[in-house]
Amino acid sequence: MNGRLICVSNRTGTTKAPSGGLAVAVSAALRQRGGIWFGWNGQIAEEGASAGEPDITHEENVEIIAGALTRQEYENYYLGFSNSVLWPVCHHRLDHVSFRRDYVDEYRRVNRRFAHQLGPRLKEGDLVWVHDYHLMPLGAELRAQRLEGLRMGFFLHVPFPPPDTLMVVPDHQWLVRSLFSYDLLGFQTQGDCMNFLHYVLEQAGGEMVGDSRVKAFGRELEVRAFPIGIDVGAFREMTRTAEARRTIRRMRQRNLGRAQIIGVDRLDYSKGLPERYRAFQKLLEQYPETQGRVVLMQIAQPTREAVEAYSDLRQELEWLSGAINGAFGDFEWTPIRSIHRSVPRSTLAALFAASRIGLVTPLRDGMNLVAKEYVAAQDPEDPGVLILSRFAGAAEMMTSALLVNPYNEEEMANALQTALQMSQDERVERHRDLMRVNEETDVAKWRASFLAVLEVVSQS
Ligand code: G6P
Repeated sequence: MNGRLICVSNRTGTTKAPSGGLAVAVSAALRQRGGIWFGWNGQIAEEGASAGEPDITHEENVEIIAGALTRQEYENYYLGFSNSVLWPVCHHRLDHVSFRRDYVDEYRRVNRRFAHQLGPRLKEGDLVWVHDYHLMPLGAELRAQRLEGLRMGFFLHVPFPPPDTLMVVPDHQWLVRSLFSYDLLGFQTQGDCMNFLHYVLEQAGGEMVGDSRVKAFGRELEVRAFPIGIDVGAFREMTRTAEARRTIRRMRQRNLGRAQIIGVDRLDYSKGLPERYRAFQKLLEQYPETQGRVVLMQIAQPTREAVEAYSDLRQELEWLSGAINGAFGDFEWTPIRSIHRSVPRSTLAALFAASRIGLVTPLRDGMNLVAKEYVAAQDPEDPGVLILSRFAGAAEMMTSALLVNPYNEEEMANALQTALQMSQDERVERHRDLMRVNEETDVAKWRASFLAVLEVVSQS
């Protein structure tokens, strides 16, 4: 494959300890192929200071070019338009949308600034791969610089909403139009592709010009689903090191034979965490024999706490787990153990391996890589059970999980009981199917198939 790979995403993270689906996948893709990662380093410049030039660091074969955001950019572009408009709209949470003109103006400005800092570093033949909702107009800004021979693809990690939900964003038409500057547009699922195409055909006068090609705004665009995955081999290896084995043994001993249910999420209102806690409470109420025999271990790393909806959620969860533990726990048993901090991925891998049930119940999710990690960490001869929300992108292919409606606490409680009682044969069979999906969507394949299509469509 020719050309350098240049990945651009709002948060560059680090290739060593990424957190969140995007960082996990992009860092794996970059490590495997080598390339450049351009974006925000997570820092905020001092009040009144400009963002300055980005710094360049190297991590093995990946060059990271990342700089700070100004305070105003952080507030209006990142917390504002990206996370108080686009994020809730894409996750069907219109109750959390708050729109201000400053937000979208800053969003345009940051995309332009990124394009101006990145453009001069690009060479003819480079493959530019832009990621996620923060950077939809970046391609159009790069094209405006009239750089020669640029091949550009965009991948959306979050769900693409149905047309009438997207139209809550006052600038929806501008956003969709700007996506037509790319050569290839990738989504997580077929459902996301359909939502996008519906919008283009119904609201933008577009027409299909091939099975997966659409024309609108005077330009053609290839639109396909590329379900993202994990580095299956690398993740499985993490559960096999001597240290991981020790951790798994320790966790099992500490649980005194109780079945551990594991949840790992960013502390986000899209993840369905209060519903999950209440479903666990229902399990304890409806199946009293489970009392004292199960533990819900929930790891929820706080993010975006400057947005009120996020800090409110944290309080709600802390109150809820306290109430459930107070009502059901005893001197020897704490039903819910929650950790609101980030945990190293190697520890997570061990936690997954030591857990009887993986409980992944977002109200809406682009894909959800935790579901795939949980499956990869299981012992194929005595695997645990994955309970998965129907509204996670992962459910489109992971149909051998116990699929649940995350709004229906009773259904989730019943699924927990089914999982606790499931025979080994059934667990093995379901796990085999789920591992097949994991292999089919391995991150190396995701990267290779996206870039292969990008190479072809940008030359035609
Ligand atoms: C999701 C988004 C990513 C984002 C990550 C962490 O996975 O799709 O774009 O980077 O969450 O969120 P944060 O706001 O902390 O970058």
